[in-house]
Amino acid sequence: MKLKQLEGLLGSLEQFSHPKIELEQYPTGHHIASRMLFSAENSFGDIGDKVVADFGCGCGTLGLAAALLGAEHVIGVDIDVESLAVASANAEDLEVDMEFVQCDVRNFGWRGQIIDTVVMNPPFGTRRKGADMDFLSVALKVASQAVYSLHKTSTRDYVKRTVLRDYNASSAEVICELRYDVPKLYKFHKKKEVDIAVDLWRFVPK
Ligand SMILES: C[S@@+](CC[C@H](N)C(=O)[O-])C[C@H]1O[C@@H](n2cnc3c(N)ncnc32)[C@H](O)[C@@H]1O
Repeated sequence: MKLKQLEGLLGSLEQFSHPKIELEQYPTGHHIASRMLFSAENSFGDIGDKVVADFGCGCGTLGLAAALLGAEHVIGVDIDVESLAVASANAEDLEVDMEFVQCDVRNFGWRGQIIDTVVMNPPFGTRRKGADMDFLSVALKVASQAVYSLHKTSTRDYVKRTVLRDYNASSAEVICELRYDVPKLYKFHKKKEVDIAVDLWRFVPK
């Protein structure tokens, strides 16, 4: 599938109608999501014919992109039942298969097929400190091949040091730096959206 076609399909997906701020529910835009998954597949071969898990899948954007790019099986994990219902409807609309698991990622106990690749846009940890690193810690235990994740650029040194020292990563590479619009989370933010710098990472588990 061509990049533009993937971007178009992701742009048609239903997203959070009443986002829960405490869960940091903001969608990955179709421009970023399509490029994230497209480079995971075309630069690294981490998607096609792989078992892919989407942690904090929300309305399913990243996992569905993996399915459209030929993943063998995709598992979407989220704590929020309402998001999973939207993700499931999105999968039906796209006519692709995706399995859904409702749980807190920190308690994810998977007994199914070996997961090759985890893709995720975790909470940045603005509402619950450390949420971003909790996702990374579990993803690096579960994935056998690679983890793709978005993190605030301001945390770059901390992320790199922690995953290599404590989280079972053998390598941690920033693939690119992006501008990301998040809805304002605090009353003192004057603008409706805040534009922040975000790193797209690729981690390889040991
Ligand atoms: C930034 S949104 C990303 C949503 C979606 N992956 C996307 O890219 O559009 C973060 C997602 O993580 C979910 N989430 C937050 N904390 C969670 C937890 N502890 N366990 C599982 N999911 C969680 C939220 O419900 C939300 O869907």
